[in-house]
Amino acid sequence: MRFFIDTANLEQIAEANALGILDGVTTNPSLMAKEDIKGEAAIKQHYIDICNIVTGDVSAEVLSTDFESMVAEGKELASLHRQIVVKVPCTKDGIRAVKYFTDMGIRTNCTLVFSLGQALLAAKAGATYVSPFVGRLDDISSNGVELVSHIVTTYRYYGYETQVLAASIRSVQHIIQCLEVGADVVTSPLSSILGLLNHPLTDKGLDIFIKAASNMTK
Ligand code: G3P
Repeated sequence: MRFFIDTANLEQIAEANALGILDGVTTNPSLMAKEDIKGEAAIKQHYIDICNIVTGDVSAEVLSTDFESMVAEGKELASLHRQIVVKVPCTKDGIRAVKYFTDMGIRTNCTLVFSLGQALLAAKAGATYVSPFVGRLDDISSNGVELVSHIVTTYRYYGYETQVLAASIRSVQHIIQCLEVGADVVTSPLSSILGLLNHPLTDKGLDIFIKAASNMTK
């Protein structure tokens, strides 16, 4: 399973990248808006800065909602850097745009996916990635991990090449559950990635080893 970080924050991306286990980055308009970025040129430069930190795919989302504007915007984003994957919402115009980009050889991440039906359309349109939102489904008393599992099973049964990128990850548990159901990629905030390291027995064991080592050298 590949690991992406879900943030537009350069420091957090660099911190995760320094671990040596980071495979890519996903951003969205809300995450970009949290950073100190003003104007179109600065937005573009920010995506390039992200691409210069990591070696893997970087999802950059279109802001338009109609087909023609999505296509124009997506082409510009894709031309910024070879690592850019154009992120497109799973709407009627969005699916058309994903198909258009697929035919042009531009890679896409079909986002805001909340049902198997939406995931089917994304795969049929040739999306590189499909992003089911786990946490937001849990928020409405649905089951986000179950959707990830259904998409993985269905794609494998029919041989769709679209990769399942579990998004809206809120916890370590979400990461583990998505791993167990076979998600191709999980994109998480830095806190959840670092949270995977936490185990009280690791801390306790290390403490014992450090004390033993210091006794030996006294
Ligand atoms: O990858 C999508 C993600 O950024 C949304 O997360 O926590 O706002 O549902 P959240």
